[in-house]
Amino acid sequence: MKERLTVCRDGDPIYDICMETSFEGLKEELAAFHLEKRKICIVTDSNVASLYLDKVKEILSQCCSMVSVFIFPAGEEHKNLDTVRMLYEHLILEHFDRKDMLAALGGGVTGDLCGFAAATYLRGIDFIQIPTTLLSQVDSSIGGKTGVDFADYKNMVGAFHMPRLVYTNLETLLTLPAEQFSSGMGEVIKHGLIQDKAYYEWLKEHRDAVMARDLTTCRQMVFRSNEIKKAVVEKDPTEQGERAYLNFGHTLGHAVEKLKNFTMLHGHCVGLGCVAAARISCLKGTLSETEADDIKHTMVSFELPTTVDSLIWKEVFDATKSDKKMEAGKVKFVLLNGIGDAYVDHSLSEDEIRAGFEAVSL
Ligand SMILES: NC(=O)c1ccc[n+]([C@@H]2O[C@H](COP(=O)([O-])OP(=O)(O)OC[C@H]3O[C@@H](n4cnc5c(N)ncnc54)[C@H](O)[C@@H]3O)[C@@H](O)[C@H]2O)c1
Ligand SMILES: [Zn+2]
Repeated sequence: MKERLTVCRDGDPIYDICMETSFEGLKEELAAFHLEKRKICIVTDSNVASLYLDKVKEILSQCCSMVSVFIFPAGEEHKNLDTVRMLYEHLILEHFDRKDMLAALGGGVTGDLCGFAAATYLRGIDFIQIPTTLLSQVDSSIGGKTGVDFADYKNMVGAFHMPRLVYTNLETLLTLPAEQFSSGMGEVIKHGLIQDKAYYEWLKEHRDAVMARDLTTCRQMVFRSNEIKKAVVEKDPTEQGERAYLNFGHTLGHAVEKLKNFTMLHGHCVGLGCVAAARISCLKGTLSETEADDIKHTMVSFELPTTVDSLIWKEVFDATKSDKKMEAGKVKFVLLNGIGDAYVDHSLSEDEIRAGFEAVSL
């Protein structure tokens, strides 16, 4: 059964998010783009290539005049301008022009990198997202944020560039390593926390089925997370206001990710950041201790870490300040007015942020 959501801008449809349990439906979806005389380049990483490239290539070959492949080594450390440069060279050598297309087959690293190349090559060409990690299916493939890391700075170079299609094959979740699945759960739980208490409760109730990767339950979960992300990005496509809620857990999360030299997974750092931000919300009197404890237990039950060791507060605070989420010199921090209701705070003192960090620091 195929499920579909349409992401709009000012009421006009921009792209569909299509959910399936195979890659077969890609052919029908791409028919709408009339690619018979066009080229497509599948951008994928070394792990995903060995699992899904042959199948996707076979299907795309039925829709396009030529299918090219660009494979880069898996891992966040390759989400950088060096890889983008190699991709540009590949596209130039293969004579890709403005009417050709890129297809990101993989997780958030692939989607962010391929999307950025698509945003900038020849001042912008079309691309589609075929997300294969939970994190990319529920979060990074939607919304058009693309980019790469620069030096030690995460997502420091980027562009907004909407995909023409997001095609999710839920079955790819079945090959995902356990820690990657729980990393995706960090963003899923975040969706409930910022926007939808009932969804957060549903996640807790369906914990066993989710962790067993029952595809019917995962489909409901991915669909609801997609609805939440879609609603937020539609209201605020370029992050002027409400989209900032999606950064819940990310301010301290990004600092930890950076100071741990990207050895901890993104969604795990986000989970930690959510627990810390919940504690700060308690200090501010907008969240109860019971709710903050509940958030921590939920993270644990979905196999997310809730503590981190060997970090020095001064370095964490400096990293927090150098994160992009600053406005007029103040850290823009997303907090909770209770579970399911996020707000932005610009007034946190260093001591308040430190208290949040200490709640997750060993
Ligand atoms: N653009 C956005 O809005 C946005 C939002 C959230 C996160 N992100 C970015 O997303 C990135 C993290 O994404 P990610 O967690 O998907 O990481 P990832 O792309 O590195 O994928 C994680 C690992 O899983 C492997 N993999 C992918 N699919 C697989 C499958 N089906 N089976 C087995 N292995 C598979 C990959 O090769 C990789 O080793 C970060 O760079 C983060 O900054 C972007
Ligand atoms: Zn994230």
